[in-house]
Amino acid sequence: MAETLSRTDLFIGGEWRPAASGDRFAVHDPGTEQVIATVANAGASDARAATAAAAATQPAWAALPPRARAEILRRAWELLTERADDLARLITLENGKVFAEAKGEITYAAEFFRWFSEEAVRLRGEFSTAPGGANRILVLHQPVGVAYPITPWNFPAAMATRKIAPALAAGCSVVLKPATLTPLTALALAEVLHDAGVPGGVVNVIPGNQARVITNAVLEHERVRKVSFTGSTEVGRMLIAQAAERVLNVSMELGGNAPFIVLADADLDAAIEGAMIAKMRHNGETCTAANRFYVEAPVAAEFSQRLAQAMGALPTGHGLEPGSRLGPLVDATTRDTVVALVDEAVRAGAKAIVGGSVLEGPGFYYPATVLTDVAPDNPILQEEIFGPVAPIVTVADTAEAIRLANSTTMGLVSYVYTRDLAKGLRVAEALESGMVGLNKGIVSDPAAPFGGMKESGLGREGGHEGMLDYTETKYVATDW
Ligand code: SIN
Repeated sequence: MAETLSRTDLFIGGEWRPAASGDRFAVHDPGTEQVIATVANAGASDARAATAAAAATQPAWAALPPRARAEILRRAWELLTERADDLARLITLENGKVFAEAKGEITYAAEFFRWFSEEAVRLRGEFSTAPGGANRILVLHQPVGVAYPITPWNFPAAMATRKIAPALAAGCSVVLKPATLTPLTALALAEVLHDAGVPGGVVNVIPGNQARVITNAVLEHERVRKVSFTGSTEVGRMLIAQAAERVLNVSMELGGNAPFIVLADADLDAAIEGAMIAKMRHNGETCTAANRFYVEAPVAAEFSQRLAQAMGALPTGHGLEPGSRLGPLVDATTRDTVVALVDEAVRAGAKAIVGGSVLEGPGFYYPATVLTDVAPDNPILQEEIFGPVAPIVTVADTAEAIRLANSTTMGLVSYVYTRDLAKGLRVAEALESGMVGLNKGIVSDPAAPFGGMKESGLGREGGHEGMLDYTETKYVATDW
């Protein structure tokens, strides 16, 4: 492995260093269960050092002309694209997703650098005259300060760049806490940013398995003004409560429980193609994964059979084996959760028409599984599955599909398939989610505002909104 891809120390103030305690933790390949690296385990003093470095460098970074920040981000896009094969291999090794998907993730991740390099020079304010004529109103957007992104293991590159790129574009500095399961990709990204010209201290990366200790140490610094988290609603709720103590700006991309609605007039070829992406992308371990299929009765049997055939045909194996299309789940806990959810669903009356039983290790493999005869109150429909399992509920009509789709506390994304565009738009309006795929099985796009309603989160990432989330709005009242 190239030196740039084998970074295992903390990245603080532009330097690689071991944890102050000397402690390290192991990173495993979920396809073999073997240790692939040991990584420096940040503690409170490392977190404080990283935050101090970020605080010291943020004013000079913010003072650079937007074009200068933009060009560094553009260079990061180029470098990440050049290093795509090596980084994708690293993702497969620590996360399990198959190599082709990992390469897709690198392209997605790199695009956040390119998109926000373009946004960095377009941070516009506003000018207006107050209706009564007494004030001239100037509106400015200024960097919020030091940002603390906390990223998940399912997209170890893209979730980091989706937060780092807009922060840098806006003039913020960053202390990144990557997931303990997948720290190597984040450390390789730190190297990319350093090589692209990001000054030392502006981006710091501190993996560590004492999440609370690290977070407490980072948030005690007065210059930290932003927490951005992607992960479970449960952890998000705790972070919001903690951030509330200092009234910090938060962005939360939390759990999903996406409905995938197939109406009777849908193009079934397109619906199957979309379902395969929405369900199977990254082994089903995405917040955007189709988690509940609601299919109108006239097409339910055909849709279920065709989906079972397509899912069951995916070769399962280690992500680096050529030909593998479904890799292992990330760890034993994730795999065991999927096992428990499927077993409970079957006990509640569902039928596994493909898959349904755990595969032999080593490696945390679970087969592509389609469940039919799922009653609308089956417990599996209440949980985020995070695995390759598609529960299908037959519905009587569009109104029932919408009612069931909205019957959850989550609201990240929904999918709907119909040949009638006007009906599709009416359904999209009625669905309680921050994003809707209308005849599309994927909504993720660096140029679009990604985010959820209800308990799926706060704020938007990507698009124009993504950079605004790293700014404070200031208004100047004047007259002349
Ligand atoms: C996620 O699963 O958290 C993000 C998925 C995406 O950006 O496509």
